[in-house]
Amino acid sequence: MSSLSGNAKIAGVIGWPVAHSLSPRLHGYWLRTLGIDGAYIPLPVAPENIFDAIKALPKLGFAGANVTVPHKQAALEAADEISETANRIGAVNTLICKSDGSLFGDNTDAFGFIENLKTGAPAWQPDAGRALVLGAGGAARAVITALIDAGVTEICLSNRTLARADDVAQYIGGNIAVVPWDDREDAARGATLLVNTTSLGMVGKTPLQMSIRGLADNAVVTDIVYTPLQTPLLAAAHARGLTTVDGLGMLLHQARPGFDAWFGVLPDVTDDLRHHMLKSLG
Ligand code: ATR
Repeated sequence: MSSLSGNAKIAGVIGWPVAHSLSPRLHGYWLRTLGIDGAYIPLPVAPENIFDAIKALPKLGFAGANVTVPHKQAALEAADEISETANRIGAVNTLICKSDGSLFGDNTDAFGFIENLKTGAPAWQPDAGRALVLGAGGAARAVITALIDAGVTEICLSNRTLARADDVAQYIGGNIAVVPWDDREDAARGATLLVNTTSLGMVGKTPLQMSIRGLADNAVVTDIVYTPLQTPLLAAAHARGLTTVDGLGMLLHQARPGFDAWFGVLPDVTDDLRHHMLKSLG
């Protein structure tokens, strides 16, 4: 880290545990390459301390913080004001300390997802056809919110635990068809977008069992898993000649609005940044 002045702006990532987080490396790259007088640090906060820790951020002069697992819901409750997007997703991943000492809570995961998709698949048309989303965790909520805002009119949601998918569809509202897990391949027939938000395919987990034969010929397949970068799902889609978008870009893009709010520059996602981050992924 370059030396800091007394005016340095400070932000960080709050999680428990937080040691695995790639965010310090990511923000550190931008701070360094942009020559900004600031720092971004890991902030391990145990669940019993989360409310006090968040409330202390403005008092300590922090510019703000990212919030990761398991604190995204607690951050929603602790923030003084919540963005419409964070409210719709039901989670806060970005806290901004305002000049009046209050805390603004936002969620940039939807932005990260759609920016990554649009960058990786510029020919994808939101209104071209059905999108099938697999999984019903926090990531699925952000992905579906992003798809609705982008103008996707037909969304199918499938999850191993049907009740969780029902909850997500009901919470977000709008035209979301919930499909039993065993029927996911039927729902994929003719779809123009397939998004995996489950943890299947991640290093150490079983691959996602999913034939992509039925997808439309112009379909785009994207995975939020980025370890490995090319999941078995993306490899199969690539082999069929479909456009694929890997999950690393979502992580990189979701970080941009927070960096802008804290340090005053909206940073870019470049090939050099991807290489830098891939080095830490091994
Ligand atoms: P997050 O909130 O971060 O997205 P999560 O709550 O752990 O993470 O969700 C992970 C997703 O992967 C869930 O949709 C989960 O399905 P369930 O809701 O049925 O648990 C899905 N998932 C994990 N392991 C799975 C498996 N072996 N088969 C099918 N889906 C699986």
